[in-house]
Amino acid sequence: MAVARTRILGVGRALPERIVTNDDLSKVIETTDEWIQQRTGIRQRRHIGSDCGATDLGKLAAEDALQKAGVDVAQIDLVIFATLSPDIDWPSCAGLLAHKLGTRSIPAFDVKNQCSGFIYSLACADAMIRGGRARHALVVGGEIHSSGLDLTTRGREVGVIFGDGAGAIVLGPSDDPERGLLSTHLHAEGKFAEKLWLEAAASRNRPRLKPEDLGGDNPAAFPRMQGKFVFKHAVTRFPEVIREALEFNGLGIADLDLLIPHQANLRINQFVAAGLELDESKVVNNIDRYGNTTAASIPIALHEAIQDGRVQPGQIVCLAAFGAGFTWASALLRW
Ligand code: UT7
Repeated sequence: MAVARTRILGVGRALPERIVTNDDLSKVIETTDEWIQQRTGIRQRRHIGSDCGATDLGKLAAEDALQKAGVDVAQIDLVIFATLSPDIDWPSCAGLLAHKLGTRSIPAFDVKNQCSGFIYSLACADAMIRGGRARHALVVGGEIHSSGLDLTTRGREVGVIFGDGAGAIVLGPSDDPERGLLSTHLHAEGKFAEKLWLEAAASRNRPRLKPEDLGGDNPAAFPRMQGKFVFKHAVTRFPEVIREALEFNGLGIADLDLLIPHQANLRINQFVAAGLELDESKVVNNIDRYGNTTAASIPIALHEAIQDGRVQPGQIVCLAAFGAGFTWASALLRW
């Protein structure tokens, strides 16, 4: 049965216990705590120390979300997993996770859309529930970056930023037509793919993986970024897509109670808040503790905001992301 509006019924998260401080990194990379804090706002991130896939953390986050939602795994009709660091290249993390959780043979697929992956996944789940294809969906963002970073001075621009983590939500029908997900807005601009990317293993190369890729000496085997270029686009696209969400719903910046942006750089989020004339108390930032967890950053931050009592019923909450692709997206909710 189709439903008019969906609502986030529960939010969960999972983070590795192992904390890696900036000082820890400065022992293996030419960097300093001062540089990292000033340029990014990051003080520490979590790195899992053992063999662990994105779905291992994702499972813990999913179980937390199911418990918070009061929804049994048997009631889940759809699993979407957002990640750029899947356990294996294919098949999908969503299928692996569904198996680990013990769902029925329901639809399960991945969204590989980097920092915007969680909002893209939310949009898919929302459309499928409203279209009557599912009643309850599990949407997970999970990343294990630490096993794939160039943690040498060559890779320091990216290596110091990323952290491991997972966040999950259960999406279901809203019992109040006034509350829930109001809209999602999704964008992509593939011409800037090379500005932030991981080139190997690539089907356009023959062979896809060269021996040097496996040895770890080839920069193409690691994520690379033109940081300043990405930064400039981020501070343009974030305000655009936040305004787009508000205007679509006949609302203005003054109506926004809480902005939960992707956590790529504290300076980006401060820049965006200042440009929108949004008080910083209305912006959720936790990059200082977790770094950039890509597809997981928004559900992790949402989880934290709920725990801290910053999200209250009836409030207008905006989720917004920008990242590799380039892709950018927003979701507006009346909580
Ligand atoms: O989540 C996906 C979206 N990602 C983003 O939105 C990230 C956007 N970009 C950024 O956040 C910033 O550009 C960075 C934090 C990545 C870099 O900050 P920046 O202020 O743009 O620094 P920069 O790249 O211009 O580098 C300045 C200097 C360079 O040295 P020279 O050429 O001036 O001698 C870098 O080599 O800082 C050097 N540098 C570092 N120094 C110490 C780069 N990384 C590091 C480091 N530690 N980790």
